[in-house]
Amino acid sequence: MVVTPPGPRARALVEKDKALISPSYVRFYPLVIESAKGCILRDVDGNEYIDFNSGLVCLNVGHLHPKVVGAVKSQCDRFLHYSNTDFYYREVVDLAGKLSEITPGRFEKKVYFGNSGTEAVEAAIKTSKWHTRRHRFIAFTSAFHGRTLGALSFTASKPVQRRYFFPLLSGVTHVPYPYCYRCPFKLSYPDCDYWCVDFIDEMVLQKYVPPEEVAAILFEPIQGEGGYVVPPAGYFQRLKKLADKYGVLLIDDEIQAGMGRTGRWFAVEHWGIEPDIVCIAKAIASGLPLGATVARASIMDWVGGSHASTFGGNPLACVASSAVIDVIKGEKLLENATKQGNYILKRLETLKEDCNIVGDVRGKGLMIGAEIVEDKETRKAAPEKAKEIMMRCWRRGIAVITCGVSAVRIVPPLTITRELVDAGLEILEAVVKEVEKQ
Ligand SMILES: Cc1ncc(COP(=O)(O)O)c(C=O)c1O
Repeated sequence: MVVTPPGPRARALVEKDKALISPSYVRFYPLVIESAKGCILRDVDGNEYIDFNSGLVCLNVGHLHPKVVGAVKSQCDRFLHYSNTDFYYREVVDLAGKLSEITPGRFEKKVYFGNSGTEAVEAAIKTSKWHTRRHRFIAFTSAFHGRTLGALSFTASKPVQRRYFFPLLSGVTHVPYPYCYRCPFKLSYPDCDYWCVDFIDEMVLQKYVPPEEVAAILFEPIQGEGGYVVPPAGYFQRLKKLADKYGVLLIDDEIQAGMGRTGRWFAVEHWGIEPDIVCIAKAIASGLPLGATVARASIMDWVGGSHASTFGGNPLACVASSAVIDVIKGEKLLENATKQGNYILKRLETLKEDCNIVGDVRGKGLMIGAEIVEDKETRKAAPEKAKEIMMRCWRRGIAVITCGVSAVRIVPPLTITRELVDAGLEILEAVVKEVEKQ
């Protein structure tokens, strides 16, 4: 660090931003980026940070991976746009083939391309409605699926996301997510025998949401914005049984957890189920705007004109995404995510033993959260302490952010080395101990 952030250039930019940019954005802290490479960020005042955040979980192959940049540069010499919604080009077809291969399920698939996560979810909602002719959905408390009005109807992690935006899509019923550290039913796994799944059947579908009207259950395999909450082993297998019982589709939102983040291509693979529809965005194209909705071919049976978006499947984003997939395969990044992730989890478990304010440590691969509490006995959430940890890390050169009510999330690029992990964790561990002392 050459100056305590925010430095003078950062402060000046933030002032201009305040005057011009929509105040609806959430800014974690005044980090103003000048450049980035691999796992390192540089701010406008010359400070360097280890990126434990991957640009909001979008840079799984690191910043400016040469193969991604090379693919984009050569596409720039050919053409930038020709509306895949109305004409054809090979970049979009090549990518669809690769996505079909890496997504769970060896059945035939079709892919819809949009520009963002929320659009991937919109397409999943609409295609499942179209196919089933059903109009109801099941979603989960604390879910985050995006902010356009359809996806927002499923988002339920903070009141500010929905306040004054009603009416939303009708027919979405939220049920408790399997958050075992704070079980909404005050039960314990495995003695609970997955009551949270039976609850959906016995208390929702058999009471007031007629199952033959339910098109799909939309879920995150690991809740992201909701606090990096990992469902217990066996959970999604039980949920799938329930869905099959009523002929309800399963829509898997892998927008944050997918593209290798958890050490598998898609997080739901940890539970071994094959969803009917998978939503992908964020890390799919290493920072270029792209969203994909991958469905069983038999389900994505809507007709020409029923859904489209001018820029969806933009060729620049498609070639970037194809390169991302090649890099994850070629550089064995799933393996590295597992290896570095297990190491981080182990160190955080030790930190949890040493510190009363680290209540829970959880995650898979490099999607890791540490829940900060007032103390282990009461488990009272400590959002101010989590924020203080985040701010101090940032001031010392670790770009890390919070999620949920009081969790700190650790999501570096999948390319991260042990040396950088150690350097980052040393600071994080020291900061947690300081905040606990105060
Ligand atoms: C699980 C999940 N779904 C959907 C979205 C929405 O994605 P976007 O911001 O690209 O619309 C996000 C974004 O954080 C997400 O984490």
